[in-house]
Amino acid sequence: MSAITVIGGKASEDLARKLAKKLKASFVSTELRVFPDGESKITISSKPKKGKIIVVNSTYPPVDTNLLQTLSLIAKARQFSNQIICVIPYLGYARQDREFLPGEIVTLSVIAKLLSSAGASKVIVVDMHSMLGLNHFTIPVRNVSAVPELANHLKKMRLKNPLVVSPDLGGKERAKEFAKFYGTDYIALQKQRDRKTGKVQIMTGNLDEVKGRDLVLVDDMISTGGSIIKATQFLKKQKCGKVFVACTHALLIDNADQKIKKSGVSAIISANTIPGSTSVVDVSGVIAKAI
Ligand code: R5P
Repeated sequence: MSAITVIGGKASEDLARKLAKKLKASFVSTELRVFPDGESKITISSKPKKGKIIVVNSTYPPVDTNLLQTLSLIAKARQFSNQIICVIPYLGYARQDREFLPGEIVTLSVIAKLLSSAGASKVIVVDMHSMLGLNHFTIPVRNVSAVPELANHLKKMRLKNPLVVSPDLGGKERAKEFAKFYGTDYIALQKQRDRKTGKVQIMTGNLDEVKGRDLVLVDDMISTGGSIIKATQFLKKQKCGKVFVACTHALLIDNADQKIKKSGVSAIISANTIPGSTSVVDVSGVIAKAI
């Protein structure tokens, strides 16, 4: 087998080290200097070995800066190999996968083009917002799921008569998969988001089946926390037990974690696709398997 080198971008250094260890690959770290005008200057700390190179970097906020750093690392790696696997644990812009309102730009398709023109030969992402997004890539792209790992983690927390809940119909399949790994049942709420203001509303009527049960709200990502807060307020009104949140990508913009806790959530559990205080579930194993 030829040598594998993992290059860890600054946005995913810890995850990249874990991945290198699992793959028994060499690890190349990066040095980052950000100039006063916001430009990034990246230096790789050593020369990658001959063979496959895996570039790991998430594109959470600052999204555009992290994206450009990812593209730069791919371009650098391409000088040493033509087999470049780009692992983007959290892919920003994944929600912009279609033209919701006339005139909108499908930015995800622009990003797919940028990744291949920078030199990526394959892309791996974790729990992409919607599988429709995969169609924008012209190079091989693979989505891996953190759901089994998240479900295993929640299972150890010994919830009372647990029920898995998706805050919206779009996440129904994810909730179903989570419930399968957890070994329980699931439901999906009906959420409506105003496409212009971003305001969220829960449209589901009264729900007897949540009464007295501990709930796990499962979502692909938390950004402002609006969806989770609205869902929790609704579920609490239905007299449920405790509410736990399991999500892959916890962006937690503007102290969203504190706002979510204030709405009645007992704990937020997320994956290390985005490093942070809630990111206790490691996805290096599922990524390693995909490689
Ligand atoms: C939407 O469909 C997604 O799955 C998430 O529910 C949403 O993007 C989370 O955003 P926020 O936390 O701002 O409500």
